[in-house]
Amino acid sequence: MYANGVRHFIDTQDLTKEEILDIVNLSLEIKKSINAGYYPPLMKDKVLGMIFQQSSTRTRVSFQTAMAQLGGHAQYLGPGMIQLGGHETIGDTGKVLSKLIDVVMARVIDHQTVVDLANACSIPVLNGMSDYNHPTQEIGDMCTIVENLPRGKKLEDCKVVFVGDATQVCASLGMITTKLGMHFVQYGPKGHQLQDSPSAACVEKIKQNCEESGGTFLITDDREAVRGADFIYTDVWYGLYESEMPKEERVEIFHDYQVNRELMQLGNLGCKFMHCLPATRGEDVTDEVADSDASLCWDEAGNRLTAMRGLLVYFTQYQREAEATELQKAAAKEQLEKFMEERGIK
Ligand code: CP
Repeated sequence: MYANGVRHFIDTQDLTKEEILDIVNLSLEIKKSINAGYYPPLMKDKVLGMIFQQSSTRTRVSFQTAMAQLGGHAQYLGPGMIQLGGHETIGDTGKVLSKLIDVVMARVIDHQTVVDLANACSIPVLNGMSDYNHPTQEIGDMCTIVENLPRGKKLEDCKVVFVGDATQVCASLGMITTKLGMHFVQYGPKGHQLQDSPSAACVEKIKQNCEESGGTFLITDDREAVRGADFIYTDVWYGLYESEMPKEERVEIFHDYQVNRELMQLGNLGCKFMHCLPATRGEDVTDEVADSDASLCWDEAGNRLTAMRGLLVYFTQYQREAEATELQKAAAKEQLEKFMEERGIK
């Protein structure tokens, strides 16, 4: 999404196939460099504001670590810590933040909040999850998939099956995989499929992606659709923004959709397990699968950091292009030192 002459990352659909692959490759190159001991100062002197209307482990820690590793700084603006939600509008908050920091990420309850924030900001806004989608999660997931492609297969050859409730992660996974020409299935119970969810609008987008990319999609409660999966992905059995369903109710609805050994065996030989986490062990996934050699969910959590570095660098590139030259910096330093010296300020 563009607003105020700035590019924002609000919706998984905001990026073209080429842009997604560019960001994934950039993220993986920076990861390689850092793993080899070189921390590129690509966010030097930049400040990220992190608005959270909900709690988070992975999104918060990965954004904050990414900024520190790239030479910048992050401010945590958690629930109740800023005026947002009081008498100050999201638009006014966005205008103010644009004067104080360089980039902002927001985890919001209602998707419209992050859209309104982007419309007001003249700095890039990255969606750290809304009730509609979770785009930064999906850049990390694509890094994980690219690092773990089945032997001899390209992205376009892979089948990704999301099992269970149509969460915002399910919606984003459906959009990004089909944008890249992959084969996406949501295997979930009737009433909890994408078309029934707060993310229902993504179904048309997934359909359009398939027409353009040659990918395919299927939403079904037929267990046979899991057969031949290269990646089996799941999430908790309730939308993170809904009040949690009583345990007995969720077990009643979703018990056939637990990712366990039997379900994994429907996948291709070498099929991998993915989970955006947090998981509810013993519900959406068994310990046996989560902790198995087939499980990518821990690497996937690590690749949240990989993706945040790439996304921060990508979405602030124009700011670095506009940076002052060394000559301009030297002149500014000389002028300030002269001012201070004249007043005896050390
Ligand atoms: N997957 C994910 O977004 O985790 P957090 O809610 O902990 O950020």
